[in-house]
Amino acid sequence: AETFVVGSKSFTAVAINTAAKAGQWIKTKLGDINHVGTKYSAQDLVTEVDKGSEKLIRNLIMTHFPNHSILGEEGVEPGPEASAKALQEMSDEEYLWIVDPIDGTTNFVHGFPFFSVSIALAHKGEVIVGVVYDPSRDELFVAEKGKGAYMHGKKTEVSEEETLLTSLIATGFPADRDGALPINMKGVQALSPKVRNIRVAGSAALHLAYVAAGRLSGFWEIGLNAWDIAAGALLITESGGRVTDTEGKLYHLGVRNVMATNGRIHEELQNELAVAEATGYVK
Ligand code: IPD
Ligand code: CA
Ligand code: CA
Ligand code: CA
Repeated sequence: AETFVVGSKSFTAVAINTAAKAGQWIKTKLGDINHVGTKYSAQDLVTEVDKGSEKLIRNLIMTHFPNHSILGEEGVEPGPEASAKALQEMSDEEYLWIVDPIDGTTNFVHGFPFFSVSIALAHKGEVIVGVVYDPSRDELFVAEKGKGAYMHGKKTEVSEEETLLTSLIATGFPADRDGALPINMKGVQALSPKVRNIRVAGSAALHLAYVAAGRLSGFWEIGLNAWDIAAGALLITESGGRVTDTEGKLYHLGVRNVMATNGRIHEELQNELAVAEATGYVK
């Protein structure tokens, strides 16, 4: 059970190769996008490159593991209800790959070089492999349950800040302008005076990878989906950090309101977010 190998192919090797291939392909499409469409709202974008990346990822995973299931963002109807339902329907699968083919589509559309490919593998609902790849910087973050997390062969570790006052925190401005965004903004308002600073760079998965690598002290966002969080969550716990929902409950695949930190500032962040009423987004 410790080796995660089927035949001769390791799950982790397939996750790494797949994320790297998809990321490299996406990069060749920067500035060469033919169609920008919208999904759930005017701010919720999708391009043919999102769909092409997901297809490439599905094909590669299916080649190696034809019996596994795949939950990918572009294979699900838009909106929080449909994505929660899709996850629920698949959560009993023995092996479930959870895929965000481009995390940070808005950045990708504008040529802002902060987007990623996020691939996780869950075994009976527990994430056992997580890979986040940033093609702009050619940085690949990988974690295996119980075996640590690495970036290009070097172990990643969360940062050492003990207080919010010395912390660099990231969040996201969700595309769901009526539901998640206003709640998240309350958190921004409450935290701004308490922290060193806040960053909103536009890829949840990459923000989580940065928490794992100690480049950010923490991250929170309201209204995310499983594919935004699953890989990054394992990167963080395997780097010594902590991942919960905004109410402090341990991370699981259904968490949408995520709070992820170096562990040391977790309670303080949770208290400040609760003050901001940044909890309770269930939609
Ligand atoms: C989005 C990004 C963004 C976050 C949004 C996500 P997408 O994912 O992670 O940073 O603020 O909530 O939906 O749509 O670019 O894959
Ligand atoms: Ca999207
Ligand atoms: Ca995403
Ligand atoms: Ca996406």
